[in-house]
Amino acid sequence: NNSFTILAIESSCDDTACALVRSDGTIISEQIYSQKEHIRFGGVVPEIAARAHLYHLRNLVEKMINTSNLSWNEIDAVAATCGPGLIGGVIVGSSFAKGLALSQNKPFIAINHIEAHALTVRIPNISNIQVQFPYLLLLTSGGHCQCIEVTDVGHYRHLGGTIDDAAGEAFDKVAKMLGLPWPGGPALEVLAKEGDEDRFALPRPLYGRPGCDFSFSGLKTAVGNLLSDYDTTVPLPRTLAADIAASFQKTITQSILNRLENAIQMVSGISLLATAGGVAANKYLRNHLLNLANKYNLPFIAPPMQYCTDNAVMIGWAAIEILQQARQNHMIIDDIAILPR
Ligand code: KG4
Ligand code: ZN
Repeated sequence: NNSFTILAIESSCDDTACALVRSDGTIISEQIYSQKEHIRFGGVVPEIAARAHLYHLRNLVEKMINTSNLSWNEIDAVAATCGPGLIGGVIVGSSFAKGLALSQNKPFIAINHIEAHALTVRIPNISNIQVQFPYLLLLTSGGHCQCIEVTDVGHYRHLGGTIDDAAGEAFDKVAKMLGLPWPGGPALEVLAKEGDEDRFALPRPLYGRPGCDFSFSGLKTAVGNLLSDYDTTVPLPRTLAADIAASFQKTITQSILNRLENAIQMVSGISLLATAGGVAANKYLRNHLLNLANKYNLPFIAPPMQYCTDNAVMIGWAAIEILQQARQNHMIIDDIAILPR
């Protein structure tokens, strides 16, 4: 029996998450705690995030193992995000995972958080088609915005990325200016539904230029400048806030689409267009990504919302892909690969 099971941990930002994932893609059990500790600060506070991971992780892992009915001898390896991310949280999660691996005499697999986002669309049952390499990925979250050609497990071509803010950062900062609660992205999307997206013309940095780098800080500043015409010491009228939200969402979507279209022209032979990262949870953006994919006759795959944002299932799945590749390359020690990563 070649099937194996990974216990995975994610703690690189403000989600404390753990999952048990089987090599056939079955999600046996998962727990996630989206830290509420940051709400009153209007943004993630790294020190508080690290302490919250420390406080919650053990209970979550215990709860997950208990609900799974698995015993330790049915778990083959432990994986954790080892970067990139907020270093305090990364240290908490990866040290906890290494401790578990050591105490249970299991291999430990270090996972790159971006690689895990990149491979999420390949989790069986998550996509309705089997995603084959190579494919083009738009990864857009609170910390990242990049176009990646995913050629194989471990082989990624960075085609372009943001030269200033990530798209999620722009969503969050604009939401904050509009007086929306943190995290701003989802709240802004809801408000934008009521708004007139054509009311305000906002700049689209890099629009029409070659390449697929992104820039969002000018757009963010433009919203700030727009608001300087209004009294922001009192709550904004709801229609005004909604119109700004809708105009911003339309503009940032157009920017992303323009850059991504260049990326599509920079690659050849891709099987599909995929997306991942928290901002990919935005339905307005997803609809436009689907239209763009249709224009180029590419299937479009977006993971369900809970696997677009940070989660431990993707960490477990990345470990599975890495181990399966190692097996194919005969890098096998004992009954599971121990990787030189
Ligand atoms: O991938 P993620 O959970 O964490 C990392 O940054 O790695 O992404 C979180 C980001 C936040 O900026 C959040 O506001 C944004 O994704 N986001 C959204 C939506 N849902 C989450 N932005 C726009 N629309 C959404 N529906
Ligand atoms: Zn992420």
